[in-house]
Formats: sequence, structure tokens, C-alpha cells
Amino acid sequence: MPIYTFRRKLRELTQTFNVYHYQQYMSLIVAPTRKRAFDELKLTNETKLLEVGVGNGSSLEFFPAGIQITGIDFSATLIEQARIRAKELQMSRARFYVMNAQNLRPLESNSFDAVVSLSLLSVVPEPEKAFSEMVRVCRPGGKIAVTSHFLHKSGWRKSVDQILSPAVESILGYHVTLPEELIVARKDLRVLVREDRRIGPYVMNSVFVVEKLN
Ligand SMILES: C[S@@+](CC[C@H](N)C(=O)[O-])C[C@H]1O[C@@H](n2cnc3c(N)ncnc32)[C@H](O)[C@@H]1O
Repeated sequence: MPIYTFRRKLRELTQTFNVYHYQQYMSLIVAPTRKRAFDELKLTNETKLLEVGVGNGSSLEFFPAGIQITGIDFSATLIEQARIRAKELQMSRARFYVMNAQNLRPLESNSFDAVVSLSLLSVVPEPEKAFSEMVRVCRPGGKIAVTSHFLHKSGWRKSVDQILSPAVESILGYHVTLPEELIVARKDLRVLVREDRRIGPYVMNSVFVVEKLN
């Protein structure tokens, strides 16, 4: 099998594994950051929400059932599962599309009140592009919530991130050295929430909620 086919297959497997693993074992880590993000967004049925990398729709139960949500993911299998989950939850205004987070072109600029991405930025090949697209489609005054692993700021944990990075990135396509400047250095955003939640000595999940300025 050519190496690129092998890597693509491994990557597909990783995406599926990511979602499964995340829900079965990692909920302890991501649940607090996810809750922090949703609390800050104060979503109502009037909110026009975009979830980027919606996966199998594990977040849907935390949204008001009448919310106008658009969920996108590049896995058609997971999008189908998200559709089924939305039906179970009677979310009649939910829409799901197969789309690449790095190019949300079918979606209009400034068209969503809130944009959410949970554990996505660490798995997309070009996180800056994906985040810029989220900013583009959010309306001025709207909010963007992101949870992910970001590069530790200092000390031995930062060294572990940097040591692990080449192997984890090339084999699993998972970034462990995502700099928070990707979000906080942007002049068109105001940071409302920036928190780290740690489980054990190393594992960390961070949450950012930002407001898009005019
Ligand atoms: C760790 S999972 C998280 C899923 C979901 N957000 C959750 O919290 O349950 C990462 C998700 O990002 C999706 N994904 C990865 N790269 C993507 C891309 N370039 N465009 C859209 N979705 C992508 C995967 O298919 C997967 O559903």
C-alpha cells in the first residue's frame, strides 16, 4: 500500500477513534470546558449557531431544542449520525452538511450569532485557516467558542508537547503545539473567557470564548 494511502487510512481511523475515544473516556476532560463555553454563549432558540466539526452530534443535547443550528463535519458518516441524533432530540431547525472546516465558503460571511468548535482545531491540518473561517462567518458582536489542547505556556509540560509533537503530528495528524496566539493575538476579537482545565499532571484542555469586534 503506498505510504500516502496508508496515512490517509490511518487518519480516517483516527477521526473515528477520536470521536469514540473522546466520548467514552475523555468526557471527564472535555465536559468542563464544553460546559464553560456553552454557559458563556447563553444560547436560546433565537441564536443562529454554527458548530464546526460537529462529529456525531454529541453536543446537541446541550442546546435548546428549537435552536437554528448548522453543523458541519468532513466525515459523511458522522454527519449522518448527527442528523439521527438531532431527530431523536426533535431539533427541527437543525441542518447538517459535509464540509471542510478550512473552507466554509458555502456559508456567508457575518451570518451566524455564535460559532462553536469542540476538539477540532487540534485535528485539522491547518488550524489557522479553520479558525479564520469561523471568524469570517460569525457576525460582528457574535461569539466564537473553541475548546482544544493548546501548547503549554512553560515548564516541563511545554517540553513534553514539543517532544511529542513530530511523532503525534505525523502519525495521528494531531497538533499538541497549537499556540494560543492563533486566537488571542487577533485584533478583530475580544477575549471573554480563557481557561485551562487539567486532568492529572499533563493532560490539558483549554476553552476560549471570544467576541468578534465590528
Ligand atoms: C475529536 S472529534 C470532536 C467531535 C465533536 N466536536 C465532539 O465534540 O464530539 C474531531 C472532529 O473534527 C472533524 N474534522 C477533522 N478535520 C476536519 C475538517 N478539516 N473539516 C471538518 N471537520 C473535520 C472530525 O471528523 C471529527 O468529527
